[in-house]
Amino acid sequence: MKIIIINGPNLNLLGKREPDVYGAETFEDYFSKLQIKFKDVDLEYFQSNIEGELISKIQETGFTYDGIVLNAAAYTHTSVGIGDAVKAVKTPVVEVHISNTHKREEFRHVSHISAAASGVILGFGLKSYDLAIESFLL
Ligand code: DQA
Repeated sequence: MKIIIINGPNLNLLGKREPDVYGAETFEDYFSKLQIKFKDVDLEYFQSNIEGELISKIQETGFTYDGIVLNAAAYTHTSVGIGDAVKAVKTPVVEVHISNTHKREEFRHVSHISAAASGVILGFGLKSYDLAIESFLL
């Protein structure tokens, strides 16, 4: 089982960025725990602040991997291109958000990804990623 976590802009700052919203843990520390927890899963992690790099990574992994866990961060709400990439690939994509975007500003209520995603998990902090990985193992 090969699963990639793809994180979008500013998620490289987890741990430092608005800890009241996103928590105090870095993604690297959390990712090490995920690798231990899901030791039978071949887990990969990619982060970029650049929209086109996220699209390229979805295309690159989206025909051969078993699952993509995608937190496109702010691009979720703006990027038709990332939404189209999710539609284009064969690998199921689970959309993830750390915060409950529906409790926040109205512009965060829109997602260009949800309609093409196999599922959406949001609002459980970093645990949202655990749940997304578990969904591939059901
Ligand atoms: C986020 C929510 C987005 O609205 C925001 O722009 C992010 C992170 C989340 O994981 O809660 O950067 O995707």
